[in-house]
Amino acid sequence: MTKNITNIYRATVVNLENVALDTFKLTLHEPTLSTQAKPGHFVNIKIPDCDGILWRRPFSIHNTEKQQGHFDILFKIVGKGTNNLIGRTAGEKLDIIGPLGNSFTLDENTSEAIIVAGGLGIAPFPLFLKHFERHDIKITIFYGVKTKENICCIKDMAEHVATIFYTTEDGSEGDKGYVTDLMHNYLDRIDLTGRQLFVCGPTPMLKTVRALTISYGIRAQVSVENLMACGFGACMGCAVRLARSAEGEPEYRLACKDGPVFNMDEILFND
Ligand SMILES: Cc1cc2nc3c(=O)[nH]c(=O)nc-3n(C[C@H](O)[C@H](O)[C@H](O)COP(=O)(O)OP(=O)(O)OC[C@H]3O[C@@H](n4cnc5c(N)ncnc54)[C@H](O)[C@@H]3O)c2cc1C
Ligand code: FES
Repeated sequence: MTKNITNIYRATVVNLENVALDTFKLTLHEPTLSTQAKPGHFVNIKIPDCDGILWRRPFSIHNTEKQQGHFDILFKIVGKGTNNLIGRTAGEKLDIIGPLGNSFTLDENTSEAIIVAGGLGIAPFPLFLKHFERHDIKITIFYGVKTKENICCIKDMAEHVATIFYTTEDGSEGDKGYVTDLMHNYLDRIDLTGRQLFVCGPTPMLKTVRALTISYGIRAQVSVENLMACGFGACMGCAVRLARSAEGEPEYRLACKDGPVFNMDEILFND
């Protein structure tokens, strides 16, 4: 995983688009940030004019258009901060810190990158596809959501990948069930040499993927989306427990500073 340099920017709102149920793509203009962004990096956004919001809100960098100096975040409305963001209009300025954290890295001998994303966990992967498209690798995506209204980004991503397998829990589109079941079948069918997984999604999905990758002995990197406060290592509010401390004295890393990307087998996921 690679580290980065961080700065504070005044980014200009370019566009806000409703792309799925309660889900929005916010396009911002900030040329330096869009040039520096790597897949897995996140930004911390100061929510403007909002009483009761002390801390910035973290969002993965979803995609970039370097020539135009734009970058996108993809977010779901869950509370005060995200509700505030859907009221932003073109031309407004947002105070943003980034790019923060480390990023996904391809191992030298990787011949196929297998992306596993659940829900909004799809957010970092369009940039992943753009960043690694010139590498001579096959990319396969496993993407799971609850219902068809939650599906987003598939058309755009389809241009860059060999196959997208997708599931809805209610069977309203794609295969019915959990995406981890499809991924499990796939791992059973292929030679695992040269395969590397890249994962982001809700904790129950991460736990299942972790168990599978360990039992198959396949390399995997995960981007965690812990609750965060300061975003720069001061509050200790985003601790991730290391697997090597499972039995003994707990050892932790900070998702904001040491992550958000970790080797899957090195960390544990809490309930
Ligand atoms: C590194 C990182 C990258 C992220 N990337 C994205 C992204 O690309 N798109 C996106 O939609 N969200 C992303 N998140 C989560 C996002 O930061 C939160 O959804 C957002 O801060 C919520 O702000 P709010 O004020 O609207 O909600 P709040 O009022 O702060 O919270 C509303 C509810 O959501 C819960 N909540 C808040 N943050 C999280 C979280 N991180 N995980 C689970 N539950 C949470 C709270 O516990 C509460 O129940 C990311 C988080 C991290 C740490
Ligand atoms: S969010 Fe404060 S230390 Fe990570």
